[in-house]
Amino acid sequence: MGGNFVIAGGSKGIGLEIVNQLLPFADRIDVLARSRGELADHEKVVRHDMDFTSDNLDFSNIPDIVHGVVYCPGTINLRSFRALKPADFVTDFEVNLLGAVKFLQGCLPALKKGAAEKTASVVMFSTVAVSQGLSMHASVAAAKGAVEGLTRSLAAEWAPKIRVNCIAPALTDTPLASRFFSSPENREAMAVKYPLGRTGLPADLAATARFLLTNESSWMTGQVLAVDGGMSTLRK
Ligand SMILES: NC(=O)c1ccc[n+]([C@@H]2O[C@H](COP(=O)([O-])OP(=O)(O)OC[C@H]3O[C@@H](n4cnc5c(N)ncnc54)[C@H](OP(=O)(O)O)[C@@H]3O)[C@@H](O)[C@H]2O)c1
Repeated sequence: MGGNFVIAGGSKGIGLEIVNQLLPFADRIDVLARSRGELADHEKVVRHDMDFTSDNLDFSNIPDIVHGVVYCPGTINLRSFRALKPADFVTDFEVNLLGAVKFLQGCLPALKKGAAEKTASVVMFSTVAVSQGLSMHASVAAAKGAVEGLTRSLAAEWAPKIRVNCIAPALTDTPLASRFFSSPENREAMAVKYPLGRTGLPADLAATARFLLTNESSWMTGQVLAVDGGMSTLRK
């Protein structure tokens, strides 16, 4: 299939697995993150140091033509509403929403050129805590709710050439969520909450992102896909 992809947060967790799943068919993958993380050297992969909470980000080194982009940086800041300070909401909003805005504005010229060649696709990440009321999730749910709104707005604004979709995971075994997997007992306690009997793996989410980035999903835009072991829709 080919194509150039830019993965914000492709150095760890779900983003890293997206890079791995794109490698067999991508021409080039640019990874933007604050650190190398667990990203291995590969001839198709170009790494850029970038912190999306900073201003004046430089996108001049990404390819001129880009066919797919993913924004992965996110937060899990779980506290009671009483314990959350306004600054916590600002932090979550900066990483989840404003970072995505900076990323998409930086990539837009290259995405438009990719769309002129064939089509272009954007994938964002939300959380199951937007569609489900989960206690202790007020700050992250508010920020990710904004991400879902951004997804639908941009899907409308950029149709028909650039598709914009979003994935809403439940608990997935990544560095971000490592405290929930700190012992076999914790892991099991989390797993039994899911209708499908387990928590998520980065590969579960990356497979969905890969689908949304390719022409297999060419008639989908403006969607928020729940990839959550059944948590958002089923009761056992
Ligand atoms: N894991 C879960 O249980 C879960 C559940 C629901 C939703 N999600 C969402 O799924 C997405 C991916 O989550 P994940 O668990 O894979 O996260 P992760 O393990 O923390 O990986 C996040 C990636 O983003 C990069 N990153 C984080 N902050 C950044 C910043 N300020 N600037 C640049 N890069 C930054 C990280 O690299 P550096 O640290 O090197 O910068 C890393 O490559 C997130 O949006 C998250 O909210 C995850």
